[in-house]
Amino acid sequence: MKTDTIPLNERIIVALDVAGDRQAREVVKKCEGHCRYFKVGLQLFMANWFHTVDWIVDRGHKVMLDLKFFDIPETVKLAVEQVNSRGVSMATIHGNDPIIRAAVEAATSMKLLAVTVLTSFGEDDMREMGMTQSVEDLVYYRARRALDLGCDGVVSSGLEAGRLRRGLGGKLLIVTPGIRPGANVEDGDDQKRVVTAGRAIGDGADYVVVGRPITQAADPAAVIASMQEEIAARSE
Ligand code: C5P
Repeated sequence: MKTDTIPLNERIIVALDVAGDRQAREVVKKCEGHCRYFKVGLQLFMANWFHTVDWIVDRGHKVMLDLKFFDIPETVKLAVEQVNSRGVSMATIHGNDPIIRAAVEAATSMKLLAVTVLTSFGEDDMREMGMTQSVEDLVYYRARRALDLGCDGVVSSGLEAGRLRRGLGGKLLIVTPGIRPGANVEDGDDQKRVVTAGRAIGDGADYVVVGRPITQAADPAAVIASMQEEIAARSE
């Protein structure tokens, strides 16, 4: 099991899936007394490149840059080099071997996370694509490869966190999106493999990524506090 402890105010990474810098700053300001880790993904990055990333880092918070790089290895290497020195704490790449190798070689200042299987992808999607293995087996296989190739961690759903932690040990960082209070998938939700924040951390995840349950809440601080309570109870 993991020996290092992550402060409670860094366990929840708030996904800033918003249209631009103004909206992102509003979310950060509502959350920052309670948590200090924020995820910048494709939508916000497309809007203003590193502008919000720099602002968050200058404010003393941490950034997970979730651009899920997927291209020929040389292009991924050059892209990762662009992120070095921006103060980003973690960045995501897609988990196939040549891409991981190139990214690991290029990353000097951030932890690299390989995306295993998106949390919006379920067993039904596997069958539709003619794949016979389970999502869990595919996640496990990709995570083991990522670790062997020198990646710091993986992004997986909370449903796989326990098996990854037991099978792959304490060195691997596990970051888990698809977090829903009560583990309920509401009508229209695009996420399929969901768990609660408490279960994800209790089963061995290091961090949970939470977007809409916090950013669309009437009282984001209350949602954060309730998730942190669950996490504290499960991570002792
Ligand atoms: O709003 P919600 O909590 O579903 O947001 C989850 C965030 O995590 C989104 O920004 C999404 O891009 C990201 N993510 C994910 N599944 C992955 C990797 C990242 O949902 N496997």
